[in-house]
Amino acid sequence: MKNRNISPSLLSADFSKLKEEIDVVLNAGASRLHLDVMDGHFVPNFTFGPFIVKAIRKLTSAHLETHLMISNPHKYIPEFIDAGADTLIFHYEASTDIDRDINMIKDSNIDVGIALNPDTDIELIYDYLSVLDYVLVMSVNPGFGGQGFIEQTLIKMKKLSNLSDKYNFVIGVDGGVNLSTIDSVYDAGADITIVGSGLYGAPSINQRFNQLMNL
Ligand code: DX5
Ligand code: ZN
Repeated sequence: MKNRNISPSLLSADFSKLKEEIDVVLNAGASRLHLDVMDGHFVPNFTFGPFIVKAIRKLTSAHLETHLMISNPHKYIPEFIDAGADTLIFHYEASTDIDRDINMIKDSNIDVGIALNPDTDIELIYDYLSVLDYVLVMSVNPGFGGQGFIEQTLIKMKKLSNLSDKYNFVIGVDGGVNLSTIDSVYDAGADITIVGSGLYGAPSINQRFNQLMNL
């Protein structure tokens, strides 16, 4: 059985006390943080850009996985690299040139990931698996925290998991992961689960983290 690795999504954190919200999950045992960048165009919601990623970088040395839910990611990839992202994930559906965007990220010696919407076939990215560090399977339609987990996406995780021995990528799963869904996600082969509302919404974040880790 694989070790669990939870990447808390700051989308559900209280940004008026961001340092505390980061420290509580790191003290609970998280080693990475998930940053959701939304542009109001690729997804129907806005969050933040490189300016805030840079500020978060100053608050922590934890691994920052930055999930770009933006159109034309190539226009902004250099800024997010400069801001201090450790993994940069762009959407298959948003990129106009997948090879170029992968190379822009790889050339900066940080990890590169591709995210796939629930309706996008997993087979479309098979040609890139040999160069990717990370595949992010969206288990909700991106744009908002707190949505219900889409069960059919478990099939994609299993397909990817069957291929992952041959390659070096890890499988992340994003959306609707909580106490009732997390076991099925790890059973399907996920390496990293992104948890937002299922963690920050708990009365005790520390206790919830341990429950989610199955400790
Ligand atoms: C959704 C984001 C997710 C979100 C997950 O568009 O990409 O990272 O924060 O939130 P929960 O865990 O609440 O579904
Ligand atoms: Zn995300």
